[in-house]
Amino acid sequence: MTRAVVISGYGPPEVLRIGETEVGPPGPGQIRVAVRYAGVGPTDLAIRAGHLDAVFPAGPGAVLGFEAAGVVESVGPDVRDVATGDEVAVFLPGLGGYAELVVADFWVPKPASVAWTDAAALPASVEAAARVLEQLALGAGETLLLLGAAGSVGRIATQLAVGRGATVVAAVRPGDFAAMRDLGATPVDYAAIGNGRVDAVFDASGRGDLPGAIALAGGPQRVITLADHRAHELGVALSNVIPEGVRAALDLVMSQLAAGRLALQPQTVAPLAGTAGVHARLESGELRTKVLLEI
Ligand SMILES: NC(=O)c1ccc[n+]([C@@H]2O[C@H](COP(=O)([O-])OP(=O)(O)OC[C@H]3O[C@@H](n4cnc5c(N)ncnc54)[C@H](OP(=O)(O)O)[C@@H]3O)[C@@H](O)[C@H]2O)c1
Repeated sequence: MTRAVVISGYGPPEVLRIGETEVGPPGPGQIRVAVRYAGVGPTDLAIRAGHLDAVFPAGPGAVLGFEAAGVVESVGPDVRDVATGDEVAVFLPGLGGYAELVVADFWVPKPASVAWTDAAALPASVEAAARVLEQLALGAGETLLLLGAAGSVGRIATQLAVGRGATVVAAVRPGDFAAMRDLGATPVDYAAIGNGRVDAVFDASGRGDLPGAIALAGGPQRVITLADHRAHELGVALSNVIPEGVRAALDLVMSQLAAGRLALQPQTVAPLAGTAGVHARLESGELRTKVLLEI
């Protein structure tokens, strides 16, 4: 059995407790990783509360966490690009990151120059950011409105979109305007997104002015949200993981990070035993950073 944070059932942060979970050997095309840091994201909080039961059912004993970084402990049949002892970041669409060991289908080698915490903070946000920009088919010279541009997904998406030659209008709180300008974006207050026309909208918040954003784009056709529950009624696509794109996205962004060309959200590190407290502080809005659990 492996030490992990498990949930006792859906509920408040207190349902998260240190416990044990069974982690089997890696199958064909998989690796098993001894986790050093695991990323915490807002979707973890929604799953724990039971809000995503239809998509991510998590019964008693389930382990949350879509991303981690650590050392390859064993490799399954057919795995040739990494070996035991290699350092990697892993994306875990089936969860399991808040644990000492995890089996992964998707990984990227961690260059020595990349910090462990940065490697663990990347995978889920990179996957979502790169995927949605592809789905929007955002091209050079176009204008993208990014709701939630100062978040974990939003900051990466901003930099990838600027790198594509797009103009990014970053909807953030005024305190984040300077950070957005540093990333090459034009900030606007997310409480008043204005009336300038845009070609496409990436909602990386789920809590933004989606109806207003649709109006700025001239309709919902090129508007994609990651999390707004009004998506269906507003005629907007709600984007979910596309496995085929994961490896290319992780490779691209890890190499940009290693080259010093990517800025991430500020981070907080907490011990695994502090996971419930972290969920509570994120939920209350007291913590606005990316959180990495030290295993
Ligand atoms: N569907 C998928 O595959 C997928 C994948 C990854 C993430 N997600 C979801 O995508 C969302 C973003 O994830 P994340 O990790 O980037 O979260 P995050 O780091 O917490 O970022 C969310 C951002 O939204 C901002 N925000 C809050 N209220 C807003 C408003 N009214 N208008 C515009 N922005 C607002 C927040 O700003 P303040 O802190 O200033 O309030 C924050 O910067 C989450 O809901 C997550 O569950 C979905």
